[in-house]
Amino acid sequence: MQGESLMTFQHENANERHASQAGTLNLGDLTINRLGFGAMRLSTNGISGQPRDPEVGRAVLRRAVELGVNHIDTAAFYQSRDGSVRANTLIREALSPYPPDLVIATKVGPVFGAGGPAQGTAADLRALVEDNLKTLGLERLDLVYLRIGMMEPPHGESLAERFEVLASLREEGLIRHLGLSNVDTTHLAEARAIAPVVAVQNHFHIARRDDVAVLDVCAENGIAFVPFFPLGGGRSDLNDPRLARVAARHGASVSQIALAWLLALSPVTLAIPGTASLVHLEENIAAGSITLTPEDLADLGITGGELR
Ligand SMILES: NC(=O)c1ccc[n+]([C@@H]2O[C@H](COP(=O)([O-])OP(=O)(O)OC[C@H]3O[C@@H](n4cnc5c(N)ncnc54)[C@H](OP(=O)(O)O)[C@@H]3O)[C@@H](O)[C@H]2O)c1
Repeated sequence: MQGESLMTFQHENANERHASQAGTLNLGDLTINRLGFGAMRLSTNGISGQPRDPEVGRAVLRRAVELGVNHIDTAAFYQSRDGSVRANTLIREALSPYPPDLVIATKVGPVFGAGGPAQGTAADLRALVEDNLKTLGLERLDLVYLRIGMMEPPHGESLAERFEVLASLREEGLIRHLGLSNVDTTHLAEARAIAPVVAVQNHFHIARRDDVAVLDVCAENGIAFVPFFPLGGGRSDLNDPRLARVAARHGASVSQIALAWLLALSPVTLAIPGTASLVHLEENIAAGSITLTPEDLADLGITGGELR
């Protein structure tokens, strides 16, 4: 155990760092706090790399739930390069038997072979869903995103065949709700003609807000919009004087303001900051109690444009 990494963030008022402070949102019939947790960073600080301490990862997960997190975002492919630490295994070990209100969202699509990540086909999906069921120790997955493309949404590519497979696994009872990740508005419309979509998870944060069209469709249809890399994937993008100015006004960190901004953007946004640090976890949860003023929002620009 890394003693220092397990030190907790000291805060004057415990209520100010409870995930429920961010309000709630419905994913189909499931109600969750809008401030959740992204599990990708538990196994390694990226998609694939050196393993992180599994004991710290389990401690972070338990603390997240203590702090009111009832939405954890994961994937079976969130693992260290050597495969020794897997996010799903840590979640099962730390939290199973699961609290009844805990919603675990996962994603399928990519396959990882010797040549690195590639897009899986429709034929791969059942096995990928079953891998999540097994590693999480569940009989049904609350929310499964179909994750397509590589870094950018694959414009013009049909997802129908793959989404139909997930829709049939939902009919079979292996999945409760479906989502999409890394998609454009055409993909979203194509999928919604096949089965209900409760959430979209796309690359979006305060310094990368060019996906407003998808957010708008989500807001109009009560679909959750779940930005991935809500902290810019590691903060280099958050190095901005406007953010620093608003953070100073609130006595907060720029990470906290970036999360508060996402939550203020629309009632359908969910925040899933990722960390393997108890200090960062507590700091991120405390962001749910920050109310940005009209002056803050004007400074930050609530929609559109680059942060500059
Ligand atoms: N659908 C997709 O394609 C996709 C892609 C990427 C991610 N995701 C999901 O989105 C979640 C969030 O994205 P992410 O974890 O990649 O990126 P992120 O939340 O934007 O940033 C995480 C990074 O910021 C650091 N960090 C976290 N809190 C901090 C704080 N308060 N102060 C300073 N640094 C802080 C983390 O390091 P420490 O661990 O050291 O704190 C980590 O390096 C993931 O966990 C995953 O569930 C989905």
